[in-house]
Amino acid sequence: FTPKQLAGRKVVLTAGPTFEAIDPVRGITNSSSGKMGYALARACIRAGAEVILVSGPVALPVPPGARRVPVASALQMRDAVLAALPGTDVFIGVAAVADYRPAESAEHKIKKSAVDRSLALTPNPDILAEVAALPDAPFCVGFAAESRDLDTYAEGKRRNKKLPLLVGNLVGDGLGGDDNTIILYDDAGRHPLPRAPKAELAQHIVTHLAALLDARAAS
Ligand code: PMT
Repeated sequence: FTPKQLAGRKVVLTAGPTFEAIDPVRGITNSSSGKMGYALARACIRAGAEVILVSGPVALPVPPGARRVPVASALQMRDAVLAALPGTDVFIGVAAVADYRPAESAEHKIKKSAVDRSLALTPNPDILAEVAALPDAPFCVGFAAESRDLDTYAEGKRRNKKLPLLVGNLVGDGLGGDDNTIILYDDAGRHPLPRAPKAELAQHIVTHLAALLDARAAS
């Protein structure tokens, strides 16, 4: 691991889950712990980058040297990412962003009753797709957590969002724990990595992305 592979680069990352409020006491979220995103933030800092970490609600300390912007909902995450973007060289979407939010968030606690209730949902904006489509887009790295057919879905997401690099993992392997099994997908193909602690995998991802960045700068 070369320590200064990202010297002089500004990196914006998203990490953790989002929380989509139903009312003041309830919401929709998921079990992302933030560990993968925070490990990647630390690896980017070790590689010499300036790091802004836009984080959903997690119970992790701020990585030393990172600027953390805490958010709850996908809409807040999107606003924080867009605000952090000027001058950014690399955007990495590690967050498990809720695809939907309640169409309406009640101002007061919804009271219990005996009748069935349904919850109307509306799609959230796709932050990564939006950033990747900008005319002056930074180098964008996506993640994909799947429960099956990882190669097909991960490579599909990479192509749909026109990403130079995507990290695929299975939810059973990657969500919540300290270790993960990942496959990197880029224009050259798939690059599987053996199961390892997230901190170690984060260093591999940084090395891979720094090589792609250097190749892009040289072309
Ligand atoms: O936090 P941990 O417990 O360590 O777990 C890590 C992880 C499993 C959450 C992580 O490794 C991971 O896979 N993150 C992506 C989760 C996911 O399923 O993303 P997705 O397939 O819904 O989205 C694909 C990509 O688009 C991701 O980079 C995501 O951040 C981004 N996205 C998705 C939806 C949305 N509205 N906005 C986005 O930016």
